[in-house]
Amino acid sequence: RALGNRNKKHMSPPGPRPFPIIGNLLQLGDHPYLTFMEMKKKYGDVFLIKLGMVPVVVVNGTEMVKKGLLKDGENFAGRPHMYTFSFFAEGKSLSFSVNYGESWKLHKKIAMNALRNFSKAEAKSSTCSCVLEEHVTEEASELVKIFSKLSLKQGSFDPKSSITCAVANVVCALCFGKRYGHFDKEFLRIIKTNEEFLKASSAANPADFIPCFRYLPLRIIHAPREFYCQLNHFIEQHVQDHITTFDKNHLRDITDALVSICRDKSATIKTATLSDNEIISTVSDIFGAGFETVSGFLHWSFLYLIYYPEIQAKIHEEIDGIIGFKPPRFKDRKNLPYTEAFINEIFRHTTFVPFTIPHCTTKDTTLNGYFIPQKTCVFFNMYQVNHDETLWENPDSFQPERFLNEKGEMNKNLVEKVLIFGMGIRKCLGEDVARNEVFIFIVSILQQLKLKKCPEVQLDLTPVYGLVMKPKPYQLIVEPRFHVNSST
Ligand code: HEM
Repeated sequence: RALGNRNKKHMSPPGPRPFPIIGNLLQLGDHPYLTFMEMKKKYGDVFLIKLGMVPVVVVNGTEMVKKGLLKDGENFAGRPHMYTFSFFAEGKSLSFSVNYGESWKLHKKIAMNALRNFSKAEAKSSTCSCVLEEHVTEEASELVKIFSKLSLKQGSFDPKSSITCAVANVVCALCFGKRYGHFDKEFLRIIKTNEEFLKASSAANPADFIPCFRYLPLRIIHAPREFYCQLNHFIEQHVQDHITTFDKNHLRDITDALVSICRDKSATIKTATLSDNEIISTVSDIFGAGFETVSGFLHWSFLYLIYYPEIQAKIHEEIDGIIGFKPPRFKDRKNLPYTEAFINEIFRHTTFVPFTIPHCTTKDTTLNGYFIPQKTCVFFNMYQVNHDETLWENPDSFQPERFLNEKGEMNKNLVEKVLIFGMGIRKCLGEDVARNEVFIFIVSILQQLKLKKCPEVQLDLTPVYGLVMKPKPYQLIVEPRFHVNSST
Protein backbone atom coordinates (compact mmCIF):
# COMPACT_ATOMS: atom_id res chain seq x y z
CA ARG A 1 0.00 0.00 0.00
CA ALA A 2 3.01 2.28 0.35
CA LEU A 3 2.96 3.09 -3.35
CA GLY A 4 3.69 6.64 -4.41
CA ASN A 5 1.06 8.86 -6.10
CA ARG A 6 2.44 7.90 -9.48
CA ASN A 7 1.04 4.38 -9.14
CA LYS A 8 -1.95 5.21 -6.96
CA LYS A 9 -4.24 5.73 -9.95
CA HIS A 10 -3.96 2.03 -10.73
CA MET A 11 -4.79 1.04 -7.16
CA SER A 12 -8.19 0.04 -5.89
CA PRO A 13 -9.41 2.00 -2.87
CA PRO A 14 -8.36 0.45 0.44
CA GLY A 15 -10.90 -1.23 2.73
CA PRO A 16 -11.61 -3.99 5.23
CA ARG A 17 -10.76 -7.54 4.22
CA PRO A 18 -13.89 -9.34 2.91
CA PHE A 19 -14.96 -12.90 3.83
CA PRO A 20 -15.68 -15.33 0.98
CA ILE A 21 -19.28 -15.08 -0.40
CA ILE A 22 -20.67 -12.77 2.33
CA GLY A 23 -17.93 -10.16 1.90
CA ASN A 24 -18.22 -7.46 4.62
CA LEU A 25 -21.99 -7.84 5.14
CA LEU A 26 -21.60 -8.92 8.78
CA GLN A 27 -19.46 -5.88 9.59
CA LEU A 28 -22.10 -3.31 8.62
CA GLY A 29 -24.00 -3.40 11.92
CA ASP A 30 -27.44 -1.86 12.53
CA HIS A 31 -26.41 1.56 11.25
CA PRO A 32 -24.09 1.19 8.22
CA TYR A 33 -23.68 4.99 7.75
CA LEU A 34 -22.10 5.13 11.26
CA THR A 35 -19.96 2.06 10.58
CA PHE A 36 -18.72 3.81 7.42
CA MET A 37 -17.85 6.93 9.46
CA GLU A 38 -15.66 4.70 11.65
CA MET A 39 -14.12 3.00 8.58
CA LYS A 40 -13.37 6.46 7.12
CA LYS A 41 -11.05 7.11 10.09
CA LYS A 42 -8.98 4.09 9.09
CA TYR A 43 -9.23 4.04 5.28
CA GLY A 44 -9.91 7.68 4.30
CA ASP A 45 -12.83 9.29 2.44
CA VAL A 46 -13.05 6.71 -0.33
CA PHE A 47 -12.89 3.00 0.48
CA LEU A 48 -13.97 -0.32 -0.92
CA ILE A 49 -16.15 -2.95 0.75
CA LYS A 50 -17.84 -6.06 -0.54
CA LEU A 51 -21.56 -6.57 0.01
CA GLY A 52 -21.79 -10.28 -0.53
CA MET A 53 -20.01 -10.75 -3.82
CA VAL A 54 -20.59 -7.18 -5.03
CA PRO A 55 -17.75 -4.62 -4.68
CA VAL A 56 -19.08 -1.26 -3.45
CA VAL A 57 -17.09 1.98 -3.23
CA VAL A 58 -18.21 4.12 -0.27
CA VAL A 59 -17.68 7.88 -0.62
CA ASN A 60 -17.53 10.24 2.41
CA GLY A 61 -16.41 13.86 2.90
CA THR A 62 -17.95 16.89 1.13
CA GLU A 63 -15.02 17.31 -1.22
CA MET A 64 -15.08 13.72 -2.49
CA VAL A 65 -18.91 13.60 -2.60
CA LYS A 66 -18.95 16.82 -4.67
CA LYS A 67 -16.28 15.45 -6.98
CA GLY A 68 -18.29 12.26 -7.56
CA LEU A 69 -21.70 13.91 -7.90
CA LEU A 70 -20.85 17.24 -9.53
CA LYS A 71 -17.36 17.60 -11.04
CA ASP A 72 -17.14 14.04 -12.40
CA GLY A 73 -20.93 13.59 -12.21
CA GLU A 74 -21.23 11.92 -15.64
CA ASN A 75 -18.80 9.19 -14.56
CA PHE A 76 -20.88 8.33 -11.49
CA ALA A 77 -24.42 8.92 -12.83
CA GLY A 78 -25.47 5.31 -13.48
CA ARG A 79 -27.51 2.96 -11.31
CA PRO A 80 -26.14 -0.50 -10.44
CA HIS A 81 -27.68 -3.64 -11.80
CA MET A 82 -29.45 -4.88 -8.68
CA TYR A 83 -32.11 -7.56 -8.64
CA THR A 84 -34.47 -5.37 -6.57
CA PHE A 85 -34.27 -2.53 -9.12
CA SER A 86 -34.48 -4.71 -12.22
CA PHE A 87 -38.23 -5.20 -12.30
CA PHE A 88 -39.14 -1.54 -11.71
CA ALA A 89 -40.79 -0.55 -15.00
CA GLU A 90 -39.10 -3.52 -16.65
CA GLY A 91 -35.74 -1.82 -16.21
CA LYS A 92 -36.89 1.51 -17.75
CA SER A 93 -37.59 3.38 -14.51
CA LEU A 94 -36.40 6.99 -14.33
CA SER A 95 -34.99 6.54 -10.82
CA PHE A 96 -33.61 2.99 -11.04
CA SER A 97 -32.83 2.18 -14.67
CA VAL A 98 -29.32 0.92 -15.35
CA ASN A 99 -29.48 2.43 -18.84
CA TYR A 100 -27.91 5.83 -18.21
CA GLY A 101 -27.47 7.76 -21.46
CA GLU A 102 -29.08 10.28 -23.80
CA SER A 103 -32.59 8.78 -23.67
CA TRP A 104 -32.50 8.69 -19.84
CA LYS A 105 -31.44 12.36 -19.80
CA LEU A 106 -34.42 13.28 -21.98
CA HIS A 107 -36.70 11.20 -19.77
CA LYS A 108 -35.56 13.15 -16.69
CA LYS A 109 -35.94 16.45 -18.56
CA ILE A 110 -39.52 15.58 -19.52
CA ALA A 111 -40.34 14.62 -15.93
CA MET A 112 -38.80 17.89 -14.66
CA ASN A 113 -40.75 19.94 -17.21
CA ALA A 114 -43.98 18.16 -16.28
CA LEU A 115 -43.43 18.97 -12.59
CA ARG A 116 -42.62 22.59 -13.47
CA ASN A 117 -45.66 22.97 -15.77
CA PHE A 118 -47.90 21.40 -13.19
CA SER A 119 -46.61 23.64 -10.42
CA LYS A 120 -47.79 26.62 -12.50
CA ALA A 121 -51.29 25.19 -12.93
CA GLU A 122 -53.83 27.64 -11.57
CA ALA A 123 -55.66 26.95 -8.33
CA LYS A 124 -59.46 26.89 -8.10
CA SER A 125 -59.35 29.12 -5.04
CA SER A 126 -58.15 32.68 -5.57
CA THR A 127 -56.30 32.67 -2.22
CA CYS A 128 -53.86 29.93 -3.32
CA SER A 129 -51.00 30.53 -5.74
CA CYS A 130 -51.23 27.11 -7.44
CA VAL A 131 -52.99 23.72 -7.42
CA LEU A 132 -50.23 22.15 -5.34
CA GLU A 133 -50.57 24.78 -2.60
CA GLU A 134 -54.32 24.19 -2.60
CA HIS A 135 -53.96 20.41 -2.19
CA VAL A 136 -51.30 20.65 0.52
CA THR A 137 -53.26 23.25 2.50
CA GLU A 138 -56.38 21.07 2.37
CA GLU A 139 -54.52 17.97 3.60
CA ALA A 140 -52.74 19.91 6.34
CA SER A 141 -56.07 21.29 7.69
CA GLU A 142 -57.50 17.79 7.57
CA LEU A 143 -54.51 16.50 9.56
CA VAL A 144 -55.06 19.19 12.23
CA LYS A 145 -58.69 17.98 12.60
CA ILE A 146 -57.69 14.30 12.73
CA PHE A 147 -54.99 14.93 15.37
CA SER A 148 -57.49 16.90 17.47
CA LYS A 149 -60.12 14.13 17.21
CA LEU A 150 -57.62 11.38 18.07
CA SER A 151 -56.40 13.30 21.08
CA LEU A 152 -59.95 13.92 22.33
CA LYS A 153 -60.89 10.27 21.85
CA GLN A 154 -57.72 8.51 23.00
CA GLY A 155 -55.68 11.02 24.97
CA SER A 156 -52.41 10.08 23.31
CA PHE A 157 -52.00 8.46 19.88
CA ASP A 158 -49.41 7.19 17.38
CA PRO A 159 -49.39 9.81 14.57
CA LYS A 160 -47.88 7.49 11.93
CA SER A 161 -50.96 6.35 10.01
CA SER A 162 -52.63 9.80 9.91
CA ILE A 163 -49.38 11.35 8.61
CA THR A 164 -49.08 8.63 5.96
CA CYS A 165 -52.70 9.17 4.79
CA ALA A 166 -52.25 12.95 4.60
CA VAL A 167 -49.03 12.71 2.59
CA ALA A 168 -50.39 9.91 0.37
CA ASN A 169 -53.33 12.17 -0.43
CA VAL A 170 -50.98 14.98 -1.51
CA VAL A 171 -49.16 12.50 -3.77
CA CYS A 172 -52.48 11.22 -5.19
CA ALA A 173 -53.60 14.80 -5.80
CA LEU A 174 -50.22 15.60 -7.38
CA CYS A 175 -50.27 12.54 -9.65
CA PHE A 176 -54.00 11.96 -10.27
CA GLY A 177 -55.79 15.14 -9.13
CA LYS A 178 -57.71 13.01 -6.64
CA ARG A 179 -58.02 12.84 -2.86
CA TYR A 180 -59.40 10.02 -0.75
CA GLY A 181 -61.07 9.91 2.66
CA HIS A 182 -58.67 8.64 5.36
CA PHE A 183 -60.88 5.53 5.72
CA ASP A 184 -61.44 4.78 2.03
CA LYS A 185 -60.82 1.05 1.45
CA GLU A 186 -59.00 1.37 -1.90
CA PHE A 187 -56.78 4.12 -0.48
CA LEU A 188 -55.88 2.14 2.65
CA ARG A 189 -55.12 -0.93 0.51
CA ILE A 190 -52.70 1.09 -1.64
CA ILE A 191 -51.02 2.63 1.40
CA LYS A 192 -50.61 -0.82 2.91
CA THR A 193 -49.20 -2.26 -0.34
CA ASN A 194 -46.76 0.65 -0.62
CA GLU A 195 -45.60 0.06 2.96
CA GLU A 196 -45.18 -3.69 2.37
CA PHE A 197 -43.33 -2.95 -0.85
CA LEU A 198 -40.91 -0.56 0.85
CA LYS A 199 -40.39 -2.92 3.77
CA ALA A 200 -39.68 -5.78 1.37
CA SER A 201 -37.32 -3.79 -0.84
CA SER A 202 -35.49 -2.06 2.05
CA ALA A 203 -34.67 -5.39 3.69
CA ALA A 204 -31.28 -6.29 2.27
CA ASN A 205 -32.33 -8.64 -0.51
CA PRO A 206 -29.77 -11.50 -0.65
CA ALA A 207 -30.31 -11.70 -4.43
CA ASP A 208 -28.82 -8.20 -4.78
CA PHE A 209 -25.53 -9.32 -3.25
CA ILE A 210 -25.27 -13.00 -4.07
CA PRO A 211 -26.62 -13.27 -7.63
CA CYS A 212 -27.48 -17.00 -7.70
CA PHE A 213 -30.01 -16.40 -4.86
CA ARG A 214 -32.46 -14.87 -7.33
CA TYR A 215 -33.29 -18.38 -8.58
CA LEU A 216 -34.34 -19.59 -5.12
CA PRO A 217 -38.10 -19.71 -4.45
CA LEU A 218 -37.81 -17.64 -1.23
CA ARG A 219 -40.47 -15.07 -0.19
CA ILE A 220 -37.88 -12.45 0.92
CA ILE A 221 -36.45 -12.48 -2.63
CA HIS A 222 -39.67 -12.30 -4.63
CA ALA A 223 -41.97 -10.25 -2.36
CA PRO A 224 -40.84 -6.81 -3.70
CA ARG A 225 -41.83 -7.81 -7.24
CA GLU A 226 -45.33 -8.91 -6.13
CA PHE A 227 -45.99 -5.66 -4.27
CA TYR A 228 -44.56 -3.60 -7.11
CA CYS A 229 -46.96 -5.26 -9.60
CA GLN A 230 -49.95 -4.45 -7.38
CA LEU A 231 -48.91 -0.80 -7.06
CA ASN A 232 -48.21 -0.51 -10.75
CA HIS A 233 -51.65 -1.85 -11.57
CA PHE A 234 -53.26 0.91 -9.48
CA ILE A 235 -51.15 3.58 -11.18
CA GLU A 236 -51.72 2.14 -14.65
CA GLN A 237 -55.52 2.34 -14.23
CA HIS A 238 -55.32 6.02 -13.26
CA VAL A 239 -52.93 6.91 -16.09
CA GLN A 240 -55.05 5.11 -18.72
CA ASP A 241 -58.08 6.98 -17.45
CA HIS A 242 -56.19 10.30 -17.80
CA ILE A 243 -55.07 9.47 -21.33
CA THR A 244 -58.71 8.94 -22.40
CA THR A 245 -60.07 12.06 -20.71
CA PHE A 246 -57.07 14.34 -21.46
CA ASP A 247 -57.87 18.00 -22.24
CA LYS A 248 -54.83 20.09 -23.18
CA ASN A 249 -56.50 23.28 -21.93
CA HIS A 250 -57.09 21.93 -18.46
CA LEU A 251 -54.09 20.27 -16.74
CA ARG A 252 -55.38 18.49 -13.66
CA ASP A 253 -52.11 17.03 -12.35
CA ILE A 254 -48.62 15.70 -13.20
CA THR A 255 -50.05 12.86 -15.26
CA ASP A 256 -51.83 15.40 -17.50
CA ALA A 257 -48.67 17.52 -17.62
CA LEU A 258 -46.67 14.47 -18.80
CA VAL A 259 -49.28 13.52 -21.41
CA SER A 260 -49.35 17.13 -22.58
CA ILE A 261 -45.56 17.36 -23.05
CA CYS A 262 -45.48 14.05 -24.89
CA ARG A 263 -48.35 15.08 -27.23
CA ASP A 264 -47.19 18.63 -27.91
CA LYS A 265 -45.62 18.56 -31.35
CA SER A 266 -44.13 22.05 -30.95
CA ALA A 267 -42.53 21.18 -27.60
CA THR A 268 -39.04 22.45 -26.87
CA ILE A 269 -37.80 18.87 -26.45
CA LYS A 270 -38.66 18.06 -30.06
CA THR A 271 -37.00 14.70 -30.37
CA ALA A 272 -38.19 13.29 -27.10
CA THR A 273 -41.39 11.69 -26.11
CA LEU A 274 -42.47 8.91 -23.76
CA SER A 275 -44.54 5.85 -24.57
CA ASP A 276 -47.69 5.28 -22.49
CA ASN A 277 -45.76 2.69 -20.47
CA GLU A 278 -42.98 5.18 -19.78
CA ILE A 279 -45.57 7.74 -18.65
CA ILE A 280 -46.92 5.10 -16.24
CA SER A 281 -43.43 4.34 -14.92
CA THR A 282 -42.63 8.05 -14.47
CA VAL A 283 -45.84 8.62 -12.50
CA SER A 284 -44.99 5.51 -10.52
CA ASP A 285 -41.51 6.89 -9.68
CA ILE A 286 -42.95 10.21 -8.53
CA PHE A 287 -45.68 8.44 -6.57
CA GLY A 288 -43.12 6.25 -4.78
CA ALA A 289 -40.55 8.97 -4.19
CA GLY A 290 -42.92 11.59 -2.81
CA PHE A 291 -44.63 9.34 -0.31
CA GLU A 292 -42.28 7.78 2.21
CA THR A 293 -39.79 10.65 2.20
CA VAL A 294 -42.22 13.43 3.09
CA SER A 295 -44.15 11.33 5.63
CA GLY A 296 -40.80 10.28 7.15
CA PHE A 297 -39.86 13.94 7.50
CA LEU A 298 -43.12 14.81 9.31
CA HIS A 299 -42.87 11.78 11.56
CA TRP A 300 -39.39 12.90 12.65
CA SER A 301 -40.41 16.56 13.01
CA PHE A 302 -43.27 15.88 15.43
CA LEU A 303 -40.96 13.71 17.52
CA TYR A 304 -38.30 16.45 17.70
CA LEU A 305 -40.97 19.06 18.51
CA ILE A 306 -42.04 17.11 21.60
CA TYR A 307 -38.44 16.24 22.48
CA TYR A 308 -37.46 19.94 22.35
CA PRO A 309 -40.54 21.87 23.65
CA GLU A 310 -38.52 25.09 23.87
CA ILE A 311 -37.87 24.92 20.12
CA GLN A 312 -41.57 24.28 19.51
CA ALA A 313 -42.39 27.39 21.59
CA LYS A 314 -40.07 29.52 19.43
CA ILE A 315 -41.81 28.31 16.26
CA HIS A 316 -45.22 29.06 17.84
CA GLU A 317 -43.98 32.55 18.65
CA GLU A 318 -42.73 33.14 15.10
CA ILE A 319 -45.97 31.90 13.52
CA ASP A 320 -48.15 33.99 15.87
CA GLY A 321 -46.10 37.13 15.21
CA ILE A 322 -45.90 36.85 11.44
CA ILE A 323 -48.79 34.77 10.12
CA GLY A 324 -51.32 34.92 12.95
CA PHE A 325 -54.54 33.12 11.99
CA LYS A 326 -54.09 33.37 8.21
CA PRO A 327 -53.64 30.06 6.36
CA PRO A 328 -49.91 29.63 5.60
CA ARG A 329 -48.76 29.93 2.00
CA PHE A 330 -45.57 28.84 0.18
CA LYS A 331 -44.46 32.48 -0.08
CA ASP A 332 -44.41 32.74 3.73
CA ARG A 333 -41.30 30.55 3.86
CA LYS A 334 -39.03 33.56 3.51
CA ASN A 335 -40.80 35.32 6.39
CA LEU A 336 -40.41 32.49 8.91
CA PRO A 337 -36.62 31.99 9.16
CA TYR A 338 -36.69 30.13 12.48
CA THR A 339 -39.24 27.62 11.15
CA GLU A 340 -37.17 27.16 7.99
CA ALA A 341 -34.05 26.74 10.15
CA PHE A 342 -35.87 24.03 12.15
CA ILE A 343 -36.79 22.20 8.90
CA ASN A 344 -33.19 22.31 7.65
CA GLU A 345 -31.85 21.16 11.01
CA ILE A 346 -34.25 18.16 10.88
CA PHE A 347 -32.85 17.31 7.44
CA ARG A 348 -29.27 17.63 8.71
CA HIS A 349 -29.51 16.12 12.17
CA THR A 350 -31.65 13.07 11.28
CA THR A 351 -30.35 12.64 7.71
CA PHE A 352 -33.25 10.20 7.53
CA VAL A 353 -32.22 9.35 3.93
CA PRO A 354 -28.64 8.43 4.91
CA PHE A 355 -27.35 7.48 1.45
CA THR A 356 -28.35 8.59 -2.04
CA ILE A 357 -29.96 5.84 -4.09
CA PRO A 358 -26.94 3.67 -5.06
CA HIS A 359 -24.98 5.07 -8.02
CA CYS A 360 -22.80 3.22 -10.54
CA THR A 361 -19.81 4.27 -12.60
CA THR A 362 -20.60 4.76 -16.30
CA LYS A 363 -16.94 4.42 -17.34
CA ASP A 364 -13.51 3.66 -15.81
CA THR A 365 -12.69 6.58 -13.54
CA THR A 366 -10.72 7.68 -10.46
CA LEU A 367 -11.67 9.21 -7.13
CA ASN A 368 -9.28 10.45 -4.47
CA GLY A 369 -6.60 9.09 -6.78
CA TYR A 370 -7.94 5.51 -6.71
CA PHE A 371 -8.97 3.58 -9.79
CA ILE A 372 -12.66 2.64 -10.03
CA PRO A 373 -13.68 0.49 -12.99
CA GLN A 374 -16.87 0.99 -15.06
CA LYS A 375 -20.06 -0.56 -13.59
CA THR A 376 -18.89 -0.31 -9.96
CA CYS A 377 -21.61 0.31 -7.40
CA VAL A 378 -21.03 3.51 -5.37
CA PHE A 379 -22.64 4.61 -2.09
CA PHE A 380 -22.55 8.34 -1.24
CA ASN A 381 -22.75 8.75 2.56
CA MET A 382 -24.93 11.86 3.05
CA TYR A 383 -25.14 11.21 6.81
CA GLN A 384 -21.38 11.62 7.13
CA VAL A 385 -21.44 14.94 5.20
CA ASN A 386 -24.18 16.25 7.51
CA HIS A 387 -22.22 15.25 10.64
CA ASP A 388 -18.73 16.16 9.47
CA GLU A 389 -16.90 17.97 12.28
CA THR A 390 -14.89 20.01 9.79
CA LEU A 391 -18.13 21.47 8.43
CA TRP A 392 -20.45 21.66 11.43
CA GLU A 393 -19.90 22.91 14.95
CA ASN A 394 -21.13 20.28 17.44
CA PRO A 395 -22.67 18.22 14.63
CA ASP A 396 -24.52 15.90 17.02
CA SER A 397 -26.45 18.62 18.80
CA PHE A 398 -29.79 19.80 17.43
CA GLN A 399 -29.58 23.58 16.95
CA PRO A 400 -31.85 25.28 14.39
CA GLU A 401 -30.11 28.58 15.30
CA ARG A 402 -26.95 27.42 13.53
CA PHE A 403 -28.63 28.45 10.24
CA LEU A 404 -29.41 32.01 11.40
CA ASN A 405 -27.17 35.08 11.52
CA GLU A 406 -27.17 37.72 14.31
CA LYS A 407 -30.16 39.44 12.70
CA GLY A 408 -32.11 36.16 12.74
CA GLU A 409 -31.88 35.82 8.93
CA MET A 410 -31.19 32.54 7.13
CA ASN A 411 -27.57 31.80 6.25
CA LYS A 412 -28.18 30.46 2.73
CA ASN A 413 -24.56 29.29 2.31
CA LEU A 414 -24.88 26.99 5.29
CA VAL A 415 -28.28 25.66 4.18
CA GLU A 416 -26.68 24.65 0.89
CA LYS A 417 -24.19 22.49 2.80
CA VAL A 418 -26.97 20.20 4.07
CA LEU A 419 -27.08 17.15 1.82
CA ILE A 420 -30.42 15.32 1.76
CA PHE A 421 -31.75 15.57 -1.82
CA GLY A 422 -28.48 14.46 -3.48
CA MET A 423 -26.82 16.78 -6.02
CA GLY A 424 -25.92 16.89 -9.70
CA ILE A 425 -27.33 14.73 -12.48
CA ARG A 426 -29.24 12.35 -10.19
CA LYS A 427 -30.51 15.03 -7.82
CA CYS A 428 -34.01 14.61 -6.43
CA LEU A 429 -36.72 15.84 -8.77
CA GLY A 430 -39.06 16.88 -5.99
CA GLU A 431 -36.93 19.14 -3.75
CA ASP A 432 -39.06 22.28 -4.28
CA VAL A 433 -42.31 20.35 -3.93
CA ALA A 434 -41.04 18.66 -0.76
CA ARG A 435 -39.72 21.87 0.87
CA ASN A 436 -42.99 23.71 0.20
CA GLU A 437 -45.07 20.77 1.34
CA VAL A 438 -43.32 20.15 4.67
CA PHE A 439 -43.42 23.88 5.44
CA ILE A 440 -47.23 24.04 5.05
CA PHE A 441 -47.71 20.90 7.17
CA ILE A 442 -45.48 22.08 10.02
CA VAL A 443 -46.90 25.61 10.10
CA SER A 444 -50.56 24.47 9.84
CA ILE A 445 -50.15 22.00 12.70
CA LEU A 446 -48.26 24.39 14.99
CA GLN A 447 -50.53 27.33 14.19
CA GLN A 448 -53.44 25.39 15.70
CA LEU A 449 -51.92 22.86 18.10
CA LYS A 450 -49.45 22.41 20.90
CA LEU A 451 -47.74 19.01 20.67
CA LYS A 452 -46.75 17.22 23.87
CA LYS A 453 -45.19 13.94 24.92
CA CYS A 454 -46.78 11.60 27.44
CA PRO A 455 -45.55 12.41 30.95
CA GLU A 456 -42.87 10.06 32.30
CA VAL A 457 -42.13 8.63 28.84
CA GLN A 458 -38.53 8.60 27.62
CA LEU A 459 -38.36 9.49 23.93
CA ASP A 460 -35.78 7.80 21.73
CA LEU A 461 -34.29 9.61 18.72
CA THR A 462 -32.41 6.53 17.44
CA PRO A 463 -33.61 5.69 13.92
CA VAL A 464 -34.72 2.36 12.52
CA TYR A 465 -32.38 1.83 9.57
CA GLY A 466 -33.70 1.70 5.98
CA LEU A 467 -33.52 3.54 2.64
CA VAL A 468 -35.71 6.09 4.42
CA MET A 469 -35.08 5.84 8.18
CA LYS A 470 -38.04 6.01 10.57
CA PRO A 471 -38.28 6.88 14.24
CA LYS A 472 -39.36 4.16 16.64
CA PRO A 473 -43.13 4.34 17.36
CA TYR A 474 -44.06 7.13 19.77
CA GLN A 475 -47.23 8.67 21.22
CA LEU A 476 -48.34 12.25 20.76
CA ILE A 477 -50.70 14.40 22.81
CA VAL A 478 -52.14 17.50 21.16
CA GLU A 479 -53.90 20.50 22.71
CA PRO A 480 -55.70 23.25 20.77
CA ARG A 481 -53.79 26.52 21.18
CA PHE A 482 -56.87 28.71 20.82
CA HIS A 483 -60.33 27.87 22.15
CA VAL A 484 -63.14 28.81 19.79
CA ASN A 485 -65.91 30.60 21.69
CA SER A 486 -69.05 28.58 20.80
CA SER A 487 -71.39 31.55 21.50
CA THR A 488 -69.83 33.63 18.68
C1 HEM B 1 -34.28 10.97 -5.95
C2 HEM B 1 -34.43 12.66 -1.37
C3 HEM B 1 -39.06 14.02 -2.03
C4 HEM B 1 -38.84 12.58 -6.66
C5 HEM B 1 -33.96 11.29 -4.64
C6 HEM B 1 -32.68 11.00 -4.02
C7 HEM B 1 -32.72 11.46 -2.75
C8 HEM B 1 -34.02 12.07 -2.55
C9 HEM B 1 -31.60 11.37 -1.72
C10 HEM B 1 -31.53 10.22 -4.69
C11 HEM B 1 -30.47 11.13 -5.28
C12 HEM B 1 -29.33 10.31 -5.87
O1 HEM B 1 -29.49 9.12 -6.15
O2 HEM B 1 -28.23 10.86 -5.99
C13 HEM B 1 -35.71 13.13 -1.15
C14 HEM B 1 -36.18 13.68 0.11
C15 HEM B 1 -37.48 14.06 -0.07
C16 HEM B 1 -37.83 13.76 -1.45
C17 HEM B 1 -35.34 13.78 1.39
C18 HEM B 1 -38.46 14.69 0.90
C19 HEM B 1 -38.18 15.26 2.02
C20 HEM B 1 -39.39 13.79 -3.35
C21 HEM B 1 -40.64 14.19 -3.97
C22 HEM B 1 -40.58 13.77 -5.28
C23 HEM B 1 -39.28 13.13 -5.47
C24 HEM B 1 -41.79 14.93 -3.28
C25 HEM B 1 -41.58 13.93 -6.39
C26 HEM B 1 -42.44 14.91 -6.50
C27 HEM B 1 -37.60 11.97 -6.84
C28 HEM B 1 -37.20 11.28 -8.08
C29 HEM B 1 -35.87 10.83 -7.87
C30 HEM B 1 -35.51 11.23 -6.51
C31 HEM B 1 -38.05 11.09 -9.34
C32 HEM B 1 -34.98 10.05 -8.85
C33 HEM B 1 -34.00 10.99 -9.55
C34 HEM B 1 -32.99 10.26 -10.45
O3 HEM B 1 -32.80 9.04 -10.33
O4 HEM B 1 -32.37 10.92 -11.28
N1 HEM B 1 -34.75 11.96 -3.73
N2 HEM B 1 -36.73 13.19 -2.06
N3 HEM B 1 -38.58 13.17 -4.28
N4 HEM B 1 -36.56 11.91 -5.93
FE1 HEM B 1 -36.63 12.65 -4.04
